[in-house]
Parts: sequence; C-alpha cells; structure tokens
Amino acid sequence: MSDTTLEPTAAASAGRRVSGVPIRLAGVTKRYPGQDRPAVDDVDLEIPAGETVMFVGPSGCGKTTLLKMINRLIEPTGGRIHLGDEDVTDQDPDRLRRRIGYVIQAGGLFPHMTVGTNIGLVPRMLGWDKQRTATRTEELLDLVGLDPAVYRDRYPRELSGGQQQRVGVARALAADPPVLLMDEPFGAVDPVTRQRLQDELLRIQEELGKTIVFVTHDFDEAVKLGDRIVVFDVGARVVQYDTPEAILASPAEEYVADFVGAGATLKQLTLTRVADVELQQVTTATVGGDAGQAVAAARAAGHDFVVVLDERGRPVSWPTLAELSRRTTVPATVDERLPVVGLRSTLNDALDTMLAASQGGVVVTGRRDALAGVLKVESVMAAIQRSRAEAAG
Ligand SMILES: Nc1ncnc2c1ncn2[C@@H]1O[C@H](COP(=O)(O)OP(=O)(O)O)[C@@H](O)[C@H]1O
Ligand SMILES: [Mg+2]
Repeated sequence: MSDTTLEPTAAASAGRRVSGVPIRLAGVTKRYPGQDRPAVDDVDLEIPAGETVMFVGPSGCGKTTLLKMINRLIEPTGGRIHLGDEDVTDQDPDRLRRRIGYVIQAGGLFPHMTVGTNIGLVPRMLGWDKQRTATRTEELLDLVGLDPAVYRDRYPRELSGGQQQRVGVARALAADPPVLLMDEPFGAVDPVTRQRLQDELLRIQEELGKTIVFVTHDFDEAVKLGDRIVVFDVGARVVQYDTPEAILASPAEEYVADFVGAGATLKQLTLTRVADVELQQVTTATVGGDAGQAVAAARAAGHDFVVVLDERGRPVSWPTLAELSRRTTVPATVDERLPVVGLRSTLNDALDTMLAASQGGVVVTGRRDALAGVLKVESVMAAIQRSRAEAAG
C-alpha cells in the first residue's frame, strides 16, 4: 500500500452519523512460536471512523490474527495499535475489550445463559444497575429485529442459527462500543438467512456509524457490506485497499483479479441495490378483507396477482387472481416460500432468491418489513443491460 490518505467514501460524504473512532495499525507483526514466517508481517493500515472495512484473502493469510490483535485476544509481537488518538498497544486488554464489540461465527453465546443474560454481560461488568441493563437489553433486541418479550428469556439452543447471530450482534453492541470486530460472523448460516443478516447489519450501521472491521471469505459479501475492502495475501500483506467499485474496476494484481473473478458473479449485480432500481407497484389486500373487491381492483389495474398484507403491512402471500377468486375473504395463510428481499439487498441477492423459489419476481420490503413493491426478473435484466451499455460507451 503506497498512499495512506484515504478519500472519503460515498457513505462518509453522504453525512452518515459517525459514532466510531479510527483504528491505526503501524508495523503490526505476529510471530507464533515455532513458525519460521510471521503470520502477520509488518502491517500498516488505517481504518477511518464510522466505516465498514472488509478483510478478504485466502485461508491462513492472517486475517483472524490481525483482527484479534486489535482487541488483543492475540498479543502482537511488534508494532503499535491506536484507537482514536490513543495508543492502546499496552492498555489492559480487559479494559480495551469493553470498547470493542466482537462477533464470531455462531454468535459465540454462552449456552447456559438466557439471551437477556448474554446481552447484559458487558453492561453488568461495567457496573450498570439492573434496570439500566434491562432497558438496554430490550433496546438492543429491538435493534436486531427480535421481539424482547419473546426472546429475552430463551436459551441459545432454542433459537435458529440466524437468531443466535442476531443476539451475538446485540451482545457486541451492548455497551455501545465505538468499534465492532466481526470474524466471518455469517459463515455458518444458510444463504437466505445470511442475506437477511447482511441487510440488517447495513441498516444498523446506517443508524449507528460504528467503525466495523469484518473478516469474510466471500467476496460478494465484502462488496455488499464494505465501504472499503482490504485484500490480503500471505503474512497479511496488503495487496489492495480501496472501495469495492475501485477494486472491481481495476484489481491491483493478477492475484486480486483471480480472487475477484472467482467470487463475484456478475459484478454489477453485486454493486446495485434493490433500492436503486424501479419496483413494480402492485395491488394489495389485507388479511380478512373482501376477496372479490381485491380481485376487481387488481383487474382494473391490469395486475394478475395480489400481495396479501397482515395487519402491520407485512406481505404474507401473493395469490393469483384465479386463486383469490375462489375465496370470499382474503386468506391469512402465510406462504412460507414467498420470495422476499429488502431494499438494501443486492440485485444478486434478488436473483438468487428468485431462482431458489422458482419465481419470476420477488416481493420487496422496507422499514419494519412493510411492503415496498415487487421486483421482476425483467427489471433485473434491464438493469444489467443498461450497465453493459454504459460500460460499452
Ligand atoms: N495459535 C496459533 N499458533 C500457531 N500458528 C497459528 C496460530 N493461529 C494461527 N496460526 C497460523 O497463522 C497463520 C494465519 O492464521 P489466521 O490468522 O487464522 O488466518 P486466516 O484467518 O486468514 O485464515 C496460519 O498459517 C495459521 O496456521
Ligand atoms: Mg480466520
């Protein structure tokens, strides 16, 4: 890495709220005993406040080692680490870790503690009283999209993988640390759940503006979540450090080009969000409403299906007019296979979801899972063609 001055990214210039602090690594090195080459060799890296920086690179290149030196789960052999203006290289690790949230695969929850107790761990260590800890726990469960009344007193084994991961994120945020370290946090969940968790993280980060360092082996995930990406090679050598757009447009070395090519499907599909393309407006009906009226409204609008919403405006099914015509009231049946993506999902996510459901479109939801519209496969294709045309001249 030659220059160390980073241009502000789009996210930063858009005036996003920042509650994070910058992280500065200078000559950071780790030699494990008995190994001839350092796992992390003299790394300089500057991570701007309030940004999400993704670490990618081959297995064993030193990503986890570097990450764990930031919160000193691993002691560096050499170099200095700064948080904000402070040199924390020799700071007491326990104190340091209260300012740095840490999320690992499968949430890393304590199995014998309830969800609430897991989340309240750090606040209690900080000496918060019961009431303040309880209030904070509720707030955090809300933030990660879990109903506190339902989940607070459950044990981790009673939750799905995706829910455990949400609790892991809530726990890491409990004491409102300026920095969040995440080591392949979504690596163990299925693709649909992973996509939802990614969308949630984007939403939370938009709200909080933490400094996030996120290790992944999935280049598409790096492009989707990162304000910037660091591509590492063996010894945590920084091969390229730039925005996703810049790395995709001009990979620094053949090595990066291979890596990008292997992971990223169609580049444009990963760079473009569902919110960036036009959605189809649809006819909606509410559970328990008059089916005949809904069918008539859809016919008048030239639609051949209706999106059924629950009382909170969340889509539950999308029956065809033929299906709905057989009913008098709009059914409350929840279609478990209804393909749904969020506005922050990428077009790649949307296409995956359509393929998995064997459907020619997806339902799109926005805030609080309320309906935003429908995205048809034709719109995705049109977006690809547009970007091809732009690229061609
Ligand atoms: N505790 C350890 N003792 C000795 N070697 C280790 C230890 N942890 C990791 N390593 C070695 O350090 C290198 C970097 O590992 P790691 O940081 O886990 O890479 P990554 O997260 O990129 O897969 C690897 O060669 C690994 O075998
Ligand atoms: Mg690792």
